[in-house]
Amino acid sequence: MNILAELRSRFCIALAKLDGSAEQLADMVLPSQDAKFGDYQANCAMPLGKTLGKPPREIAQQLVALLDVADLCAEPQIAGPGFINLRLRDEFLMAQIQQALVASDLGITPADQPQTFVLDYSSPNVAKPMHVGHIRSTVIGVALDRVLRALGHRVISDNHIGDWGTQFGMIIYGYKHFADQAAIASHLVDELSRLYRLVNQLVDYQETKNRKLPDIEKRIVDEAHCLDRLHDSTELEDPREREEHAKRLQSSENTLAELRKELADMRRKLAAVEGDPQLSPLLADHSAIGAAVLAETAALHAGDATNRSLWERFLPACLESMNEIYRRLGVTFDFTLGESFYEDRLAEVVADLASQGLVTESDGAKCVFLEGVDAPFIVQKSDGAFLYATTDLATIQYRASEWKPQTILYVVDHRQSLHFEQLFATARKWGFDQIRFEHVSFGTVLGEDGRPFKTRSGSAVGLGGLLDEAIERAHAIVSANDDARESPLLSPSERRQIAERVGIGAIKYADLSHNRTSDYVFSYDKMLAMQGNTAAYMQYSYARVRSIFAKGEINAESLRGRVSELGIQHPAERALALALLQLSEALARVSTDFRPNHLTAYLYDLASKYSSFFENCPVLKAETDKLRTSRLLLCDLTARTIGYGLQLLGIEVVERM
Ligand code: ARG
Repeated sequence: MNILAELRSRFCIALAKLDGSAEQLADMVLPSQDAKFGDYQANCAMPLGKTLGKPPREIAQQLVALLDVADLCAEPQIAGPGFINLRLRDEFLMAQIQQALVASDLGITPADQPQTFVLDYSSPNVAKPMHVGHIRSTVIGVALDRVLRALGHRVISDNHIGDWGTQFGMIIYGYKHFADQAAIASHLVDELSRLYRLVNQLVDYQETKNRKLPDIEKRIVDEAHCLDRLHDSTELEDPREREEHAKRLQSSENTLAELRKELADMRRKLAAVEGDPQLSPLLADHSAIGAAVLAETAALHAGDATNRSLWERFLPACLESMNEIYRRLGVTFDFTLGESFYEDRLAEVVADLASQGLVTESDGAKCVFLEGVDAPFIVQKSDGAFLYATTDLATIQYRASEWKPQTILYVVDHRQSLHFEQLFATARKWGFDQIRFEHVSFGTVLGEDGRPFKTRSGSAVGLGGLLDEAIERAHAIVSANDDARESPLLSPSERRQIAERVGIGAIKYADLSHNRTSDYVFSYDKMLAMQGNTAAYMQYSYARVRSIFAKGEINAESLRGRVSELGIQHPAERALALALLQLSEALARVSTDFRPNHLTAYLYDLASKYSSFFENCPVLKAETDKLRTSRLLLCDLTARTIGYGLQLLGIEVVERM
């Protein structure tokens, strides 16, 4: 049962009786932060007192009188100015635990209204090596996928890979000018990555030199003028104006300093390329590389035979290397319909938008203008090329007709916020106003220096190498811990397997345990720590519970035939039981705002409750057989809940470590 939801619905009824418009105040029923205020707490008497013009304590009393929770709670207590404290009855807790113990799904409460979700996640651009940024989308996407399914929703996962964009123009250009044929024959994907990086660096160089640098130089001149004028302005009498003026001066100085720093960075970057023995000889011959890459992309789109055949040759190899990463992460998708899948629908999308009067021409480009958004949403460029935006519109049309979702989720980093804002607004105008669109955005993965995570060589870290390193480090830790035992337990192959699960689990959990909208620092040391809110700690907690069963030679399966022996006496037992029953609440929270960190926080809390139970309540050495059985039952449900929670996060457990 989702106890919180049940309590809220009871409050809803009582609130409605008191005031017809007060039902939504039931959301103010929350789990208590501190056990001394009971298990749940309701603060709705305060705002309601204000609306009704009565003392909140009086309202609280009236609410309690109307409230029907006797089957769940002891008599509600009113505290302070009008807090209502609720303590669940032990018999209720026990009955719920007994049900969860014998249920195959741990007694999870399904969603009231199951929906169809389309979940767009991972969606890397193939031909570029996948990097740490793709972890976040993939790992968050998997967790949402599993949690939503666990709640009974229909989920269609669709990996919207970028297999048709400029990056293919880049590798085609690279192939035509710089390919090492021997490497193409022996290590196709590595060679394509090299070509991609090379072309990208050259494009970036030209773009910086020809556009960004002059641009910033001009802004510096403008800002310097502005600052001069501020300095020149006459003495101000009014102290408020003086203060205002000083502020403006300061802000202009800051801007100027920032721009100068940017300029210096740019110059440094350009000088690095010019001093690079591999790159510098190429600069003169490839000065128009940006336009040339676009031309290669356009030729591919126009059906040019050479480019098309190169694309057909390169794509499977790129997909294969991408799939290798997915295998290692244990990820599968229902569909992988990349951008190329929508190729032949794009012209029609633009025509259809135009026929509905949504398209305006601006400098030859076809745009959708949206209320409240400054930038137009460009659906076709003046040279006739379609864009990311056009493909995304075609994708919505396809998904809507094929799967009829109520909701489409896009797990994509926050830098694409504007794109999605425009996309959703355009789609609504276009007629898809029944679908709920959500950009499940996330922040950047940072290095320990606080900048976007990079390897020493400066390229974004390759995902394969990142996983390898986490596994190697996990292996060292697992081995050291095992070696420290009087007689080591683990065989070399067992150590390997544990290291795989702990290493990969660490990366996933670190990502999931941070609020997805914040940036977070990627640190192997932190993510592999055995203490704190980490995968290793959760996996260890699981293994620790399971070791009791191994040590006592207890079959958990047959233990579940003795649920009637469950009893709850010690406060640590009770706290553990309550935590065990709150899984459904955590899952419901994840499905409300699509933040998997609600589930990691829940698991961490559960593991802490288990720890204090374990310290206070002997299990195998319990005083009576009945008590031993009862505690073993709590242990069993703890292990299964942690195991299941981790599984929903895409993380595997180990029986010992
Ligand atoms: N391929 C894009 C990128 O790597 C992400 C695609 C996200 N999904 C979408 N429907 N736009 O930036």
